Amino acid sequence: MIKRAVALGTGHYLPDRIVPNSEFEATLDTSDEWIRSRSGIERRRFAAEGQTTSDLATRAARAALDNAGLSPDDIDGIIVATSTPDLTFPSVATMVQAKLGMTRGFGFDVQAVCAGFVYALCTANAMIVSGQADRLLVIGAETFSRIMDWTDRSTCVLFGDGAGALILGREDGTGTSQDRGILSTDLNSDGRHLDMLYVDGGVSTTGTSGKLRMQGNLLFRQAVDKLARTAVTALERCALSGADVDWIVPHQANIRIIAGTAKKLGLPMDRVILTVQDHGNTSAASIPLALSVGVQDGRIKRGDLVLSEAIGGGLAWGAVVLRW
Ligand code: UT7
Repeated sequence: MIKRAVALGTGHYLPDRIVPNSEFEATLDTSDEWIRSRSGIERRRFAAEGQTTSDLATRAARAALDNAGLSPDDIDGIIVATSTPDLTFPSVATMVQAKLGMTRGFGFDVQAVCAGFVYALCTANAMIVSGQADRLLVIGAETFSRIMDWTDRSTCVLFGDGAGALILGREDGTGTSQDRGILSTDLNSDGRHLDMLYVDGGVSTTGTSGKLRMQGNLLFRQAVDKLARTAVTALERCALSGADVDWIVPHQANIRIIAGTAKKLGLPMDRVILTVQDHGNTSAASIPLALSVGVQDGRIKRGDLVLSEAIGGGLAWGAVVLRW
C-alpha cells in the first residue's frame, strides 16, 4: 500500500468580459487572421476594474469545493500558482483563505510562471504523500491583462485572465499505474533563458510591477522538444507511454505548440483538451481551467489517464501524470 494524492473535485472561473481578436484591430497593426493562424486564439477574458487575482481564485475555489461536496474547513491548505498576485505580499493563497472564511490550515503561493500549476501540483502531491496534509486546494489564477504593454502587438494579443482549482485528497493505492491520483511528476528549469520571457519590473529593481516582454519565436523553438521530453520522462517514471494517455491537458499558449507536442507523443488532437481559442494564454491558470472544462463537459471520466505539461518564463517547464 502506498499513499496517493487523488482528485476530489475541480472548478473554474472566468471574468465576464469577452474580448474578441477584432478588438485589437482598432488600436494595433494586427488582425484576427494573424492572431488565429499564429496562436489559435480567437478570444480571451479580461478581469473587470478592481477584480483581482484572489477574487478569481476564490470563485474557482468555491466551484471546486461545490464539485467535491466539501466545505472550506475540510481543507488543510491552499497552494496558489500565480505570477500576478494582488500585492507583492502577503500571498494570494492567504487572501483566498480569508475570502473563503477558512479558519484553519495554511496557504502559500508558488511562482513558476506558465509552469506554475505543474509546480504547485508537484508540491501538493509531495505534501499529501508524505502525510503533511490530507486535503489541499491547488489553484492557478492570473490577471495577465495587468502586466500587458498595450502597444506591443507581439504580446498583448496572446494573454488572458482566469482561474482554475483542483482539490486533492489522500487515498491508499497499490503502487501501480492503475491507481487513481498523481502517478508521477517531472520538473525542470534553465535560468540562462531569462531573456525569452520576463517582466521588466520588480520590487528589488525598478520598484514597479513592470510589463511582460517575450521573444516568442525563440521560446517557440524550445517549447515542443522540451514539453515532449518532460512528458515522456513523467510517463516513463510510472511505466507508461503516450499510447496510455486518454487526455492531454496542456498549458494553453499556442495551438501549434500543443499540436506539435501531441504529435511527438503519437496522440491525435481529439485527445487534447483545447481551450486556447476561448481563453488565450492564462499562464498558471490554463491547465486547471482546461481540466475543469474537460471534467465538466464529461470528456474526462473517472479512471482516465491525464497528462499535463507546461513551459514558460525561467525557462521553467514540467509534466504531471494523473489518473482521474
Ligand atoms: O506561455 C508561456 C510560453 N509562451 C509561449 O510558449 C509562446 C511561444 N511563442 C509563440 O506562441 C509564437 O512565437 C507567437 C504566437 C508569439 C508568434 O508566432 P511566430 O510564428 O513565432 O511569429 P514571429 O514572432 O516570428 O513573428 C512573425 C511576424 C513578425 O513580422 P516580420 O518580422 O516577419 O515582418 C512580427 O513582427 O509577425 C509579426 N507580428 C505580428 N503581426 C500581426 C508579431 N505580432 C503580431 C501581431 N499581428 N499581433
